[in-house]
Amino acid sequence: MPQTNTSDVLIIGSGAAGLTAALNLADRFKVTVLAKGRLDEGSTAWAQGGIAAVLEEGDTFESHIEDTMIAGAGLNNRATVEMVVERAPAAIARLRELGVPFATESEENGGALHLTREGGHSHRRIVHVADATGWAVQEALQRAATDHPNITLVPDMVAIDLATSRHEERYSGAGHVWGVYAVNRATGRVELYTARATILATGGAGRTYLFSTAPRGATGDGIAMAWRAGCRVSNMEMMQFHPTCLYNLDVKNFLITEAVRGEGGQLLLPDNGYRFMPDFDPRAELAPRDIVARAIDHEIKRLGLDYVHLDISHMGPDFIHEHFPNIQEKLLGLGIDMTRDPIPVVPAQHYTCGGIVIDLDGRTDLPGLYAAGECSESGLHGANRLASNSLLECFVFGEACAQHISEHWDDLPPPPAIRPWDESRVEDSDEEVVIKQNWTEIRRFMWNYVGIVRTTKRLERAQHRIRMLTDEVNDYYGHFRVTPDLIELRNLLQTAELIVRSALHRKESRGLHYTLDYPEMLPGEALDTILVP
Ligand code: FAD
Ligand code: SIN
Repeated sequence: MPQTNTSDVLIIGSGAAGLTAALNLADRFKVTVLAKGRLDEGSTAWAQGGIAAVLEEGDTFESHIEDTMIAGAGLNNRATVEMVVERAPAAIARLRELGVPFATESEENGGALHLTREGGHSHRRIVHVADATGWAVQEALQRAATDHPNITLVPDMVAIDLATSRHEERYSGAGHVWGVYAVNRATGRVELYTARATILATGGAGRTYLFSTAPRGATGDGIAMAWRAGCRVSNMEMMQFHPTCLYNLDVKNFLITEAVRGEGGQLLLPDNGYRFMPDFDPRAELAPRDIVARAIDHEIKRLGLDYVHLDISHMGPDFIHEHFPNIQEKLLGLGIDMTRDPIPVVPAQHYTCGGIVIDLDGRTDLPGLYAAGECSESGLHGANRLASNSLLECFVFGEACAQHISEHWDDLPPPPAIRPWDESRVEDSDEEVVIKQNWTEIRRFMWNYVGIVRTTKRLERAQHRIRMLTDEVNDYYGHFRVTPDLIELRNLLQTAELIVRSALHRKESRGLHYTLDYPEMLPGEALDTILVP
């Protein structure tokens, strides 16, 4: 008999968004948190730069709101931006209470939080833990969640699909979400997790691209699951490319934080040391990411380069060691001494701005289903995320989901009997090679055809390939027992399809979506690309 696990609230994802929601619910409810690998394998633990909040004397909420909207090329929802920005200082205070050891000024200078600077921010606004902020945040949240008697953490449990009214033993037609079916990595068996409310906090879809700073598990699972269940997704064409990923043939996804540019790092041409960013934007290296990434891409293509240089050696060894100890150590291990040498860098996919449409309470289109963090589209980022606004979004929306669930608990019905997963007509795969082949193919054509600079022709080529692969993957999925790799491949393909469809839909260049066929931004009100299943 397949196992059914029931709790009050089910959360898929153990990063900043999922654990924040869990901690805000657990004093009142029994909460189960699933992660598809280790609990700390999401992007949260990888975050370097920090978290944006108005804390500097002279800085204002209005300024942070304006910076966010400028970076987002007007596609942001102002109400969301205001909510997130205004709740940021309290979010930072709660993280400090949980023990996150943010960097502070020396005692002689008052011991206040040390604020660093990143592109697009008009003030010093980024709280950080040296250059490993995400790790410190993940540790603190995980520690608190592990210690809480009402939170059950379940690693190695890969959600396959949402359990909805369609899976009820007695169909109610209510369109409710009741939990998920998930495959247990240890046993290979599919289990059912049910709850009155389910929160998707599954992170982004960076691994749809060949080069990405995101961890291996960023395969868009939550976005694909929500779409299949009937949720709208929005602005999927807005894929953010970080300007400075280390160029190294062995280490393909190591980020060099934006704070390196924030603290004086300069982008130079490798041959002659020419500083090219002032030719592209008066803010030079501190222009928003889309502009810096496109400028680097332009120079690389124009000059036939493999990479450009990022140089901060002029700031001296003590400064570099104090601010970037982890990056320095990592690079030394690869033979690069950043206190003397420039760092070779290239742009790489970094953040998924689009996602599952949610409202200010984190509610999706389906009753009982919430979403928070990188898998969602809350209206905060618009056409381009401002640096260090995404961890912040996780804290604010993780809490908003929890608050809405608490306040509306009596309106959330208990889950009915749900049909177990049906494996009667599938067998074990004898062709695992199909998964690897298709995975690589998707990531390669997404990089080549749906990257920093797009054209309609390239997008149509990608769409054509996606259609062919979809038939093949669906056929495979229908015949063979689900495995974590197959689940991810299916979601990767679904997410790629949503990205390409959204990109073809937008007939302008705005923020992260730049196409040679429509190089101008359309006048008038900025419109979201909303896909309806
Ligand atoms: P994640 O932290 O990615 O967690 C996703 C969770 O979902 C994981 O636990 C995963 O196991 C689980 N999951 C996914 N699919 C399934 C499934 N099918 N079944 C079960 N579980 C599943 N942002 C900032 O604001 N500041 C920064 O300095 C910063 N630096 C960054 C540096 C790097 C290298 C990267 C990649 C990103 C950075 N970001 C930064 C972005 C930020 O880290 C992420 O947007 C944020 O951490 C996302 O958190 P999340 O909780 O939404 O998802
Ligand atoms: C970085 O440290 O450059 C990443 C910051 C972010 O993605 O917000």
